[in-house]
Amino acid sequence: MEIKKVGVVGCGLMGSGIAQVAAMAGYDTLVREVSQALLDKGFTGIDKSLAKFVEKGTVSADDKRAIINRLSGTTHLEDLKDCDLIIEAVTENLETKHLTFRTLDSACKPDTIFASNTSSLSITEILAATKRPQRFVGLHFFNPVPLMKLVEVVRTVVTDPAVYETVFKFAESLGKVPVRARDTGGFIVNRLLVPYLLDAVRAYEEGAGSIVDIDNGMKLGCGYPMGPFTLLDFVGLDTTYYIANIMFDEFKEKRFASPPLLKRLVLAGHFGKKTGRGFYDWSDPKNPKPTL
Ligand code: 3HC
Repeated sequence: MEIKKVGVVGCGLMGSGIAQVAAMAGYDTLVREVSQALLDKGFTGIDKSLAKFVEKGTVSADDKRAIINRLSGTTHLEDLKDCDLIIEAVTENLETKHLTFRTLDSACKPDTIFASNTSSLSITEILAATKRPQRFVGLHFFNPVPLMKLVEVVRTVVTDPAVYETVFKFAESLGKVPVRARDTGGFIVNRLLVPYLLDAVRAYEEGAGSIVDIDNGMKLGCGYPMGPFTLLDFVGLDTTYYIANIMFDEFKEKRFASPPLLKRLVLAGHFGKKTGRGFYDWSDPKNPKPTL
């Protein structure tokens, strides 16, 4: 099956990035958000990101215009009915995802492939809302989507192998490097990344070093692009806490248990960069100051 038209549900940080890379790869891309204001916000982000590529000379001004012309928006889920592949990137809430896919399932043509960008929920649990379990996969992108090369292509026990290969090739056509993952908690990356991030918080709680020293330790000593606390603020403390809880629930292992400090920061509404404060104060984004 050939993918020509791509639908994206959700135009937040991940959805807008996914729509952008699909349009950059030449696909007609239709994005759905719940309101025009959220669509506009997402499209402004896409425009800014494309402008950075133009500035660097990796995308020409003409190409930027062509990419934007391939993108359109809607507030009606049913408008995605003719898409060959629909990638869902709505909030990490099972009920919201079920509602989205139930509506799409009755609106879309029978051979439309569904994919979820969930980072933590079980793909098998999400697909249960549809009558096309064989045509349902996980397609997990990384933030910031236009820059990060990896995509996890997740198969379940019921995925049709031909559908899986179609989606795998689609991910390659985006210029990404797809990896084959199975539908187990956290797939590949979060299964390894989340315990590392949680351990950094535990190391701080136990007095191993300061926020900045632990960050510098991993950044300069191991060549990571960001230290664990900067990455926590970047991913979102709320998101990490949410993923950790789901993985703890799945594996019942201490390495997935949220440290008390992470929970307290989330309870206080300090989610990281997006709220301006987490392990760092981001009022001056070029010069973040540790808050603890
Ligand atoms: N679009 C286009 N260009 C962008 C961009 C975007 N969305 N975001 C940043 N850039 C550009 C910047 O303008 C900058 O350009 P310049 O070189 O001309 O100044 C360039 O990319 C580099 O950005 P920065 O200078 O801000 O910073 P870095 O050199 O540190 O690179 C980074 C940024 C690629 C984000 C790098 O820090 C990195 O790889 N960090 C780790 C990110 C990571 O681990 N992501 C995965 C998170 S886990 C996840 O997503 C899974 C989920 O389930 C939790």
